[in-house]
Amino acid sequence: MDLKERYVANPQRYDNSEHMYRRCGRGGLLLPKISFGFWKNFGYADSYERSRSIASYAFDRGIVHFDLANNYGPPYGAGEETFGRLMDDIFRPYRDELFISTKAGYDMWPGPYGNWGSRKYLMASLDQSLRRTRLDYADLFYSHRYDPETPLEETLQALVDVVRQGKALYVGVSRWPLEALKTAERYLRERDVPLLVYQGRLNMLDRAPVEDGVLEFCREKGIGFISFSPLAQGLLTDRYLNGVPSDSRMARASSLRPSALTPELLAKLRELNSRAAARGESLAEAALRWVLDQPGVTSALVGVSSAEQLATNLKAIEPKSRESESLV
Ligand SMILES: NC(=O)c1ccc[n+]([C@@H]2O[C@H](COP(=O)([O-])OP(=O)(O)OC[C@H]3O[C@@H](n4cnc5c(N)ncnc54)[C@H](OP(=O)(O)O)[C@@H]3O)[C@@H](O)[C@H]2O)c1
Repeated sequence: MDLKERYVANPQRYDNSEHMYRRCGRGGLLLPKISFGFWKNFGYADSYERSRSIASYAFDRGIVHFDLANNYGPPYGAGEETFGRLMDDIFRPYRDELFISTKAGYDMWPGPYGNWGSRKYLMASLDQSLRRTRLDYADLFYSHRYDPETPLEETLQALVDVVRQGKALYVGVSRWPLEALKTAERYLRERDVPLLVYQGRLNMLDRAPVEDGVLEFCREKGIGFISFSPLAQGLLTDRYLNGVPSDSRMARASSLRPSALTPELLAKLRELNSRAAARGESLAEAALRWVLDQPGVTSALVGVSSAEQLATNLKAIEPKSRESESLV
């Protein structure tokens, strides 16, 4: 797309609404079943034009939830800056149609105030995120991880206060253990800032939130659950079935090491792929359907390096009569 060409969103973007959105827990908010994350592929080394075409492709198909964090890049902050550029370039007229989340909790800047869960860090980080994203407010602000050294009440009160200050509409927690999640749910509910959503890793290869009771707790309490890395960073796709492509995350990023692809895992992925193919699906589609079928899941939060990958992933929300046999 010519960068000088003014972006006009696809007028049909909500035609598929009936299949696209789900209530987030017991609240009124609807979120897309497939949400879109900026962790990888939106840093300084990535082409802005490609970022623009992927993000506009997503919005044109009704994906209204984009997920950010202070440290997405590389370098830290670059994912949010790319989003800020997109905001001015194409999304500004559509701000009220978008649901943008960001987070703080991991290493972001040097010194004692650039990491973990103190009030000092969370407050400063959200202000920085708003500047980088060129937003007046975030729709959702998360504590990105549990901090065993900071009293939970300090982190949680900071979340309450960012809502009171109008800097975020909703709050969430990510990767908090069950007991801390229980405290968060109670603390926030008692202050009329209910916990909107829990973000955790759930996919066919990692079922920790099911096994440790987090998903069940969210369901019981009406908290939404967003599954990050639903494709296990690309393992649950056809990406690595015949080697490691040089442009793949495994070849480029330290978050997915070649050592993860053991012969046993490869055999399992090939088996899952054949079973998906027998049902007329890609492995990615089957893996996303599996996530979305878990009771309590609101949305599968994918990352993609191309619009084609997103097109494949969106097939997972198309209605389909399926064999009852489960893939795993
Ligand atoms: N809360 C947290 O702590 C946390 C942690 C991690 C992620 N997240 C969030 O979750 C989002 C998604 O995480 P993720 O990127 O790990 O998700 P993912 O969807 O499991 O993996 C994304 C990668 O899978 C590959 N892929 C996706 N669709 C494909 C398809 N149809 N065919 C072939 N390959 C495909 C691409 O790899 P290639 O790049 O190789 O093409 C893509 O970069 C992040 O952007 C972030 O917003 C949150």
